[in-house]
Amino acid sequence: MLRSLLEKKDTIEPSSDKMELTKSEENILQGKEGEGKKKAMEILVTLGEINEAEKLIPVKSVQVSGVSYMTIGDAGLDFIRDWANAGAKAAAFATLNPSGVDIDMAEELGYPEDFTKKQKQIIDVYTSMGITPSCTCTPYLAGNVPKSGEHIAWAESSSVIYANSVLGARTNVESGVSALACAIVGKTPYYGLHIEKNRKPTFEVKVEADIKDAADYAALGYIIGQESEGIPLFRGIKPSKDEMKLMGAALATGSIHMFHVDGITQEKIKEENLEKIIFTKSDLKDAYAKLNTEDEPDVVCIGCPHCSVEEAVEVIKSNPKKETWIFTARKNKDAIEKHARGKNVKIISDTCMVVSPLKALGIKSVGVNSAKAAFYCRNLSGLGVKFDKIKNLIK
Ligand code: F3S
Repeated sequence: MLRSLLEKKDTIEPSSDKMELTKSEENILQGKEGEGKKKAMEILVTLGEINEAEKLIPVKSVQVSGVSYMTIGDAGLDFIRDWANAGAKAAAFATLNPSGVDIDMAEELGYPEDFTKKQKQIIDVYTSMGITPSCTCTPYLAGNVPKSGEHIAWAESSSVIYANSVLGARTNVESGVSALACAIVGKTPYYGLHIEKNRKPTFEVKVEADIKDAADYAALGYIIGQESEGIPLFRGIKPSKDEMKLMGAALATGSIHMFHVDGITQEKIKEENLEKIIFTKSDLKDAYAKLNTEDEPDVVCIGCPHCSVEEAVEVIKSNPKKETWIFTARKNKDAIEKHARGKNVKIISDTCMVVSPLKALGIKSVGVNSAKAAFYCRNLSGLGVKFDKIKNLIK
């Protein structure tokens, strides 16, 4: 499917009768700026037409997913290599999602050599296209921080929901392929959450449960994300930014890509009389029960989405008794590592517990405080999961 997009010739007419394209966009579509850019424009025009976008708009930054060799395999590597060989280069500032391994620690942690080699090739291809190999799902904690109101084109659902809700930037959830196309053209189709009127809350969540900790926020996000659609307005909670990071990632395990928290998030709310959901103490208890399959995990994995420096230092200062791996952006690794000397923790960059082949390292179960990690470690990686508050996981 991915390769066929590159291999097809002349299947899309070099114009769009549904979208308004500028002269320079038409030129790209006609191949006047090379085959690689032409293919990117074809993808964006097709995406725009499907979603009834009237035009393309420039984006300030792009977050590209589809980086781990575990998830894209040889087919994905060949696909991006073909695109790079067709002359594709990023026209917008673009950063990368986590890969499958922290190459500096691959030997120490026992990653298969072939996996590390293939992973390096993937990152080299993206870098050759002008994409910054940041390898984090929290680009906003590592130098790619959009301003409120800015249009961006991000893949990676946890970063999309954070950008829309907490930062007030505007993005749809791009796929790995469409994000790469956006990076190459520097634009995205104008539809969905780019448009003001589509960013309003569509239902209200009245939180009656006592939400005390990041894992509680993740549990709340998981239940609402799995059981509803649209844009929730939360009332009755006061999350920190790090807590919204975990709640948002959990909401996005379903189809929610933006939320509001009354009095906390960026955009002002005028809506009254929205349909109301009550989140009770027993809903919170159910979430923990649903996410747990294991009592004694092999290793505790914190950092889904990647930890901020503050979160990581707090975990380290709690002196974990259980072996604990903390996943973070490489940019923040040094600031965290200086607190970790002599402690039972490993600070790991460029990857995470979900997109890394933990089973190949002999790990069968993980302890996590992230509902997103619990969901995907079980469903994608087949790992056993203990979902709990950090203080309970590390003791
Ligand atoms: Fe990030 Fe991996 Fe979680 S990409 S959001 S740490 S699944």
